[in-house]
Amino acid sequence: MSVLDGKQVAEKIQGKLRVEIERLKTERAIVPGLTVILVGADPASLSYVNSKGRLAEKLGIHSTQVKLPEAALAPDVIQAIVAANDDPQVHAILVQMPLPKHLDSWKILDHIRPEKDVDCFHPFNQGLILQNRASLFPCTPAGILEILDHNEIDVSGMNSVVIGRSFLVGKPMATMLSNRNATVTLCHSKTVRLDEISQAADLVVAAIGRPGSITADMVKPGVVLIDVGINHIETEADFARLCQPSQYEGFKKKGYAITGDIHFQALAKASRYTPVPGGVGPLTVTMLMHNTVELCKRSLSVTRNEK
Ligand code: GUN
Repeated sequence: MSVLDGKQVAEKIQGKLRVEIERLKTERAIVPGLTVILVGADPASLSYVNSKGRLAEKLGIHSTQVKLPEAALAPDVIQAIVAANDDPQVHAILVQMPLPKHLDSWKILDHIRPEKDVDCFHPFNQGLILQNRASLFPCTPAGILEILDHNEIDVSGMNSVVIGRSFLVGKPMATMLSNRNATVTLCHSKTVRLDEISQAADLVVAAIGRPGSITADMVKPGVVLIDVGINHIETEADFARLCQPSQYEGFKKKGYAITGDIHFQALAKASRYTPVPGGVGPLTVTMLMHNTVELCKRSLSVTRNEK
């Protein structure tokens, strides 16, 4: 059983990005620009947005945040998107998900111009992914492929089970694994006998958003486990059920612990697994910076050979 260290992979990519960003500045007089739009004050979203801002600053990316109140209406959000679309210093636009319930996400996201769509949510960009013609991918599944590549895990022919069908993670992940010749089953809340399907998997990607959902009896020995979940555990009872005893000191100190969608007893059966925290998480924000730099380069028509 060995850990797939996401921090190490993230740092490697960040090192390359630093060099590219410096070259863009000195040779092309351009600074990659990212605008993040946050509607409302959901604590988890606020914390993700802040960590995106911190990493952008660390790498030399110009990042701006537009914070709108929870009660903002679609035209308010669209106005912020249009302003970023029209700003030549902005190469990448991210609208933090989830949006408040009264807003129709697709109606809003559709306003992001495809060439500034850092999440690859636009139907044009999703179509390219489906047709296996894309060179940019949504941040979390892109980060997962980076972890697999770095660790020389070839998914070709692997029986791969993706659990969770969100447009952020599960759906693009299933497509991207299939484009790499994995045999893919995409499972979700209505899947019948999920346990039987996951027991047959060589690779499980869990993106459910419920702590400890994938239990030891649901996976086979030697499986590769990728955990996308970031769940806050706040009570002693949940801690006892879902967290490793080694996390207890941190739990008492901070008042919460973070755990994934895969139960720690299942991790013990895996040949390789991503930990939470320190697995997929560091890659998600790093791939956002990678995509921002790519979109900046595209705006200059810098070809991939010039890298
Ligand atoms: N919320 C959680 N993850 C993401 C992401 O990758 N992109 C956006 N836009 N919102 C998110």
